[in-house]
Amino acid sequence: MVVKAVRGFSDILPEEILTWRKVEEEARRVLEAFGFREIRIPVLERTELFARSIGGETDIVQKEMYSFLDRGGDSVTLRPEATASIARAYIEHRLYSRDPEVRLYFIGPMFRYERPQKGRLRQFHQINAEVFGVAHPMVDAEVMALLVLLLSRCGLTEHELQINSLGCPRCREGFRETLKAFLEERTRKLCQDCLRRKERNPLRVFDCKVKGCQEVMEEAPLLEDHLCDECKDHFLQVRSYLEELKVPYSVNPRMVRGLDYYTKTAFEVVAKGLGAQKAVAAGGRYDNLIAELGGPEVPGIGFAIGVERLLLVIPSLPPPPPPLLFIATLGDEAERIAFRWCYELKASGITAAMDHRRRSLKSQLRRADKLEIPYVAIIGEEEISSGKVILRDMRQGSQQNIPLDTFVQEIRERLGPSVHEAL
Ligand code: HAM
Repeated sequence: MVVKAVRGFSDILPEEILTWRKVEEEARRVLEAFGFREIRIPVLERTELFARSIGGETDIVQKEMYSFLDRGGDSVTLRPEATASIARAYIEHRLYSRDPEVRLYFIGPMFRYERPQKGRLRQFHQINAEVFGVAHPMVDAEVMALLVLLLSRCGLTEHELQINSLGCPRCREGFRETLKAFLEERTRKLCQDCLRRKERNPLRVFDCKVKGCQEVMEEAPLLEDHLCDECKDHFLQVRSYLEELKVPYSVNPRMVRGLDYYTKTAFEVVAKGLGAQKAVAAGGRYDNLIAELGGPEVPGIGFAIGVERLLLVIPSLPPPPPPLLFIATLGDEAERIAFRWCYELKASGITAAMDHRRRSLKSQLRRADKLEIPYVAIIGEEEISSGKVILRDMRQGSQQNIPLDTFVQEIRERLGPSVHEAL
C-alpha cells in the first residue's frame, strides 16, 4: 500500500516554489527595511508555554494542540503559533537588556489539529513580526501599515484591515460581568462549549463558530462601550496614526481574536475569495504577555500572515525555468564527453542536461523540445572527428558550430549568467 502524507499536512511542489519564495523574499525585504531582524525558534516547546500565553479556554489550547509526552515524560507541543515562542526566547536570552525596542521576525510552519478545508491546514506556515518594548500607539499603526504594505507587495489587491480594541484587564473585568449577565439570560441558545466559556472567559463566546451562538452575540454588549479612558484614548490615537499613514481600515467591534494574550489593539486583514477562512493575517498588542511569562514589564505588538491563505489570493508565478542547454549524444564516447561538459557547466552555474537512458537522438531531441530547453548541442562520432559541435538556438531556429576543444569555455561566454538573465 502507498503511504500518503498525514491529513492536513501538504507538500509544496517545485512548480509552486517560486511564489513561496517571492512571498518570503518580499517579507524579508520589507521587514528588514522596517528594522526587524530574523530569529529562528524551535518547533517544539513545553506545553505550559502555550497553555499560559494563548489561554486555557481558547480553541487552540482546548482542542488543537499537537501535545505529547516525550521519552523523558515531559509534556511538549508542536508550536501552534509563534508569538509565545518568540516571547519566551526574548525573555530567555534577555534581549531587552540590549535595546529597549526589539523587532523580530520569523518564518516557519505551525501546527494545529483543526478540520482541514480550503485555507485551513494542520501544518501551515506563518510570517511573524513582533515589536517588543514600545507602548506608543504610533507603533500599532506602523505595524498595521507595514502589514498592509507587505501584503500588497505580494500581490494582494482586495483586502480590508479590520481593527478593534480589546481593552486592558481593568476595563475587561467590568465588561466580563456585563457580558456574563447578558449570556446568563440566553443560556438555552448557547452551545455546550459556550456554557463553559460563559463562566470562565465569556469574551470567547464572540469567537464561537456555532450559528446559534453567533446569533446571540449579534445583540451582545460591546467592549468598545466599556473601555477605560486610557484604552479609549489609545484606540483613538491608533486610528489617527493610521489615517496619518493613509491606511484604510474599518472598525469591527465584535472581533476578539482566538488568543487570550491580546490587550488594546487587535486586527485582522480579510481578503475576498477566501470563503469562511478569510483572514490572511492577524495580530494585536499584548502588553502583559512578557510579564506573565516571567519576564519584565515590557509591552509588545505583532502579527502573523498565513502564507497558504495568502497564496490562494495572489497571482502565482510560473514554475522554475527549464535547463538552459541540452546536450544530445550519439555513441559511447560522445556520452562520456557530454557527461564531463554537463558537470563543468553546472559547476559554473549554467544549467545543462543530458539523457542517461541511451535513447535515440530523435527521442532525446523530443525530450529537450518538451522541456522547452532553449539551446541544444548535438555530439556524435562525426562531431568528434570534425572537432565541431552544433549548437542550436531553439527559439530563433538558428544554429552555429562550436569548436569541440573549447566547447565549455565558449558556452560559458555565450550563455553565461547575463545571457541567462536576459532570456
Ligand atoms: P492567528 O489568528 O491564530 O494569530 O493566526 C494568524 C494567521 O495564520 C491567520 O490569520 C491565518 O491566516 C493563518 N492560520 C491560522 N490557522 C491556520 C490554519 N489552520 N491553516 C492555515 N492558516 C492558518 C496568531 O497566530 C498570532 N500569533 C498572531 C500574532 C502575532 N499576534 C501577535 N503577534
